[in-house]
Parts: sequence; structure tokens; C-alpha cells
Amino acid sequence: MDNWERSIDDRVSLLEDTLRVNSKNLAYNLFKLGMKIGVFSYASNGKKSFSVPYIPNNEFLEKYLNASKRIGLLRKKNGSYDIGYFRMNFNRRDFENIIPEYIAMYDDIAAMAHYKAISKDHPNVLMSFGKDADVWDIFFSNPFCFVYREIIKDILKLKNGDRVLDVGCGSVAPVYFAELVGPNGCYRGIEKSKGLAKIANKRLRRRGMDWAQVKNIDFEKASVFGRYDYIICAWVINYLDNIRKGLKSLVSSVSPGGKIVFFDIFPDLVDFDVTVYEFYNSLNKSFKGFITSHELLGTLSEFDPELEVSHASKTFLIIEKKA
Ligand SMILES: C[S@@+](CC[C@H](N)C(=O)[O-])C[C@H]1O[C@@H](n2cnc3c(N)ncnc32)[C@H](O)[C@@H]1O
Repeated sequence: MDNWERSIDDRVSLLEDTLRVNSKNLAYNLFKLGMKIGVFSYASNGKKSFSVPYIPNNEFLEKYLNASKRIGLLRKKNGSYDIGYFRMNFNRRDFENIIPEYIAMYDDIAAMAHYKAISKDHPNVLMSFGKDADVWDIFFSNPFCFVYREIIKDILKLKNGDRVLDVGCGSVAPVYFAELVGPNGCYRGIEKSKGLAKIANKRLRRRGMDWAQVKNIDFEKASVFGRYDYIICAWVINYLDNIRKGLKSLVSSVSPGGKIVFFDIFPDLVDFDVTVYEFYNSLNKSFKGFITSHELLGTLSEFDPELEVSHASKTFLIIEKKA
């Protein structure tokens, strides 16, 4: 495995530190959510343990209690709950190297959780890629997303003439990557949400980028993609319905000598507990849960045993197909 340049390394640390600090912010939000839905008022009546409060969305309450147990906020004992030993600790180092807009974005997401407690389909929960494409379009414009796109550009050394497939491309990445590979290359985005694909194609057309297009299809259902020099999977594999099928298509769509880039939270690599991200990300019904790097690499190598990891960090895996 090669080392990557210092400037890439610094930006990867910026993303990974931001994710770590935000996991603490989300744990704090989980505690505050407990206060909002009444968990702690039941707990503060002088008794050592308490029974769970009533909230209309019972399934969501179960998820809340499970996440709270996992991070130590609550303890279950003989069918009732105790407040666990929970301590939050932010220090100066936490704020030296982070992207504050990412924390703010997750604060917006955390605010939606209270509505989810009221009802399963509450209109104030704006997390659906289809129905809430306009909200996701704002999320995809977060500076955090531009940092990982820029890292992908630099790792792959994207240039005019390259052929790129971007799986689950959303609405903002297409113009960014298409600009780098045009006019002689080709950019193909695959996007399941009609609304996001529409926004992306409108932007590509407005800029006259006729070498670029976003197909509004479900990646796992489409079978033939052609061959690409590079495949980008940024913040997407946890949303696929059939990850094995998706990974098989990826492997067969990359040219010999080409690369697949994954950017995501890999629970076995990051240095924080992913429980809080799982809890808040699952406000989006499409979220399936995180996959470990071990599982991802194991599945990829079943489809092509000669694939190699050319670069890796806690959140990036770059896979190369033998020439
Ligand atoms: C969290 S977003 C990431 C968007 C983009 N990669 C970026 O970094 O800005 C995940 C995207 O994957 C899309 N998606 C999820 N499952 C998909 C599938 N099976 N086929 C195509 N797109 C999918 C979603 O609609 C959503 O736009």
C-alpha cells in the first residue's frame, strides 16, 4: 500500500476529526432528546430505577433506549432502567481541526428526531432522498462534502479524458466531478432519487456539460454499466438495499488498472462509537447500517481475488483492479 501526500493526509485528518467530535455532539443530542421525550423526568422522581415513558412512536422509543444503553446513558436492570454513568468531555484539541458546518448539519438532523418520536411519518422529518431532495441538496453543499470530493479528486488525480462512474451521486457532486474530466472524458452518475437526479441533470445542462449525465436508476437493479477508469462511492454503500449485488456490479464496471474509491464511516476503523450516527442516520428509512471495512473487502475479493487496497484511512478505501 502506498502512502499518500501530506496535503491529502491533513485533509483526511480534518474529516476524521470532525466525525469524531460530531459523535460526541450527537451523544449530547441523544441525552437532550431523552429530556425532550420525558425519559429523564421519569428518572428524576427519587427512585433508583424507572419504567419507560409513553411516546406515540413506540418503535422509535425502542431504538432510543437501545442506542442510549449502548453508549452508557442508560442501564437496564430487571426490566426497568437506571441512569448510566455518562460523561461528556470536549477539549480544546477537539475544536482545533474540525468543520463546524458539519456539526451544524447534524444538529439540524438531531432536531428532527423529536418529531419522529411523535409519529413515524411526521412531516417535519425531512430525511427522505426522494421527498426531501431539496433538503439533501443543501446537505450535499456542506463544506465537509467538498473536502471529501477534493480528496477523491487528488487521490485519483482526475483529469480531462478520464471515465468516471459515481454511484449514488446526489445532486452536487456531478458538476464537481464532470468539470474535472471534461470535455474529453465521461462522467456518469447513478442516482435512485428522481428529485436529486433532476436537480443534477439541470445543473449539468445549464453548464453545457454534454459529456456528463445522471441516470435516475437503482444501482443494484441495473446490470450493465460499461467500463470506467474510476468508480466513486462516497457516503452511499450504507444505503444500498442489496449490497452484495451492488458490489458485484462495481467490480465488473471498473477497467483493468482502474480504481474504486469508498468514503464512509467504517465501524472497525474509526476511533469512536458509531451508535449515535446509526441512530440519527436511521431517521432516513433508506439507511441500512454501517458495513465494516473487513466485510466490504471480504465481499469485494469474492468477486475478484486480485483486487488490491492501494490506499486506506479510517474513512477512505481505495481499491485497485489489476491491469
Ligand atoms: C448520502 S447520499 C451521498 C450523495 C453523494 N455521493 C455525495 O457525496 O454528495 C447517498 C445517495 O445515494 C443514493 N442512493 C441510495 N441507494 C441507491 C441506489 N440503490 N442506487 C442509486 N442511488 C442510490 C441516494 O438517493 C442519495 O442521493
